[in-house]
Order: sequence, then structure tokens, then C-alpha cells
Amino acid sequence: MPRTVIAGNWKMHKTAAETRAFVEAFAPLMADVPADTEIVIAPPFTALAAAHDALRAYPRVRLGAQNVHWEPQGAYTGEISIAMLQEHGVSHAIVGHSERRAYCNELDSTVNLKVRALLAHGMTPIVAVGETLEERDAGETDTRVVSQTRCALDGLTDDEIARVILAYEPIWAIGTGKNCDPAEAGRVMGAIRACVPALADVPLLYGGSMKAENVATYMSHHHINGGLVGGASLDPAVFATLVRNATTR
Ligand code: PGA
Repeated sequence: MPRTVIAGNWKMHKTAAETRAFVEAFAPLMADVPADTEIVIAPPFTALAAAHDALRAYPRVRLGAQNVHWEPQGAYTGEISIAMLQEHGVSHAIVGHSERRAYCNELDSTVNLKVRALLAHGMTPIVAVGETLEERDAGETDTRVVSQTRCALDGLTDDEIARVILAYEPIWAIGTGKNCDPAEAGRVMGAIRACVPALADVPLLYGGSMKAENVATYMSHHHINGGLVGGASLDPAVFATLVRNATTR
């Protein structure tokens, strides 16, 4: 049975000071969440040091980055290496988010390089896949997400795949308030799980307008093990309620 994972993707929100205030309000509320639930926040790079410092007293909440470069160092202006993230206690990194695929030229091939590099350094990739509205309307949803999943995991051993987290995020549902019907999300996630045998016990997260009010319905589907949450992860009380609703069964 895959573990439960709830990850907050803050995108380009919160300064270091705002991050510290969030952690101080949010982390104490996580103390009674079941120990087998992984709770992750992914602030912007500039707030990781502040988050790491504020989380010292709260090991229950893990730290994620929103992107990473696969090379250890070099002439890559504006990029951030794995060692730079690990220096700040980062254990997870979101890879292949649709916004990075759309605006920052993230490709299936670079997603794969990032996943390999993260696993080689003992980090947990959160690989995001998802279809556009046009692809859904054309009946290409399953083909698209299966292809993205296979490319991201290409060349990995079964043991390596077992250390990945996958997030299914239909692009048309992200930030729109139009969340994907949970039964349909679960169906697509079943196709994702089935396309690579080693995904059997990997946490599959749903993302796209997940809220405190709808998270329980997603969690009741057997292929959905958690959420990658954008807008609803920015307020500490709101995100704490979402985590609680996800883990109360
Ligand atoms: P949303 O974003 O929850 O605001 O829809 C999810 C995501 O982009 O990861």
C-alpha cells in the first residue's frame, strides 16, 4: 500500500519572512497527523533557508524545491544544483510541473535527467504529468500521461522507481477551480500505475484545484494516495485542514 503524501507547491509566492511566518503557524498543527503521512512544503528557492531554519523544531514537515538542475555545477546561469538544495535540508524536488514545461522549456528528456540525478543523491523526485484540455478533448489523455511517465522513468531500475512520487495534474484543472472528477482522476491514475510495473507501491498524487473540501473524495479512490496542492497550500490554517481531511479515514 503506497504511503500518503501531501505536498504544497507554493509556486512564485512568499518571501523568506512570509515563509517563516507560515511554518510557525502551520508546523505545530501537524503534530498529530498520522506518522505514515508525508507532509512536504515547496517554497521558492530564496525561502528555503528560512524554511529549513524554522522547520528545525518540526521534523514532521519535509522541505521540497520546485525545480533543480541535473548537473552538479557549471555554467548554467540561474540554475540551482542538488548540493545547493541539500545544504538547506531539501529532501524532495518537483520535476516536470506543467508550468515549467509550458514556460521554461522543460522537456521529457530533461525531466528524466533530473529524476536520475535526484535519485543518485538520495532525494525524492515528485514527477508531474498531465494533459492539456485539447489533448483531453481529443481523447489523448491516457496516451499523453503514460508517455510522460515512461519518459520520466526511462532507464531507472525498479528499486529506483520505487523511490519516486508521481503527480497527475490535468493542466486544465490547475488553478482554475475546475477540479477533475475524482473517479476520472483515479481512472487515469490507474492507467499511470499500470504502465510501469514498478509503480505498484509508488504514491500517486492528484493535483489541480485540490481543496480541503474535496480532498477526502480523492483519497477514497484506491489509486489516489495524496495531493500536490497549489493555491490551497498558501494559508497555514487552510492547508492544515486539507492535510487533516486527507488523513482522517
Ligand atoms: P492548484 O495547483 O492546486 O492551485 O490548482 C496545483 C499545482 O499546480 O501543483
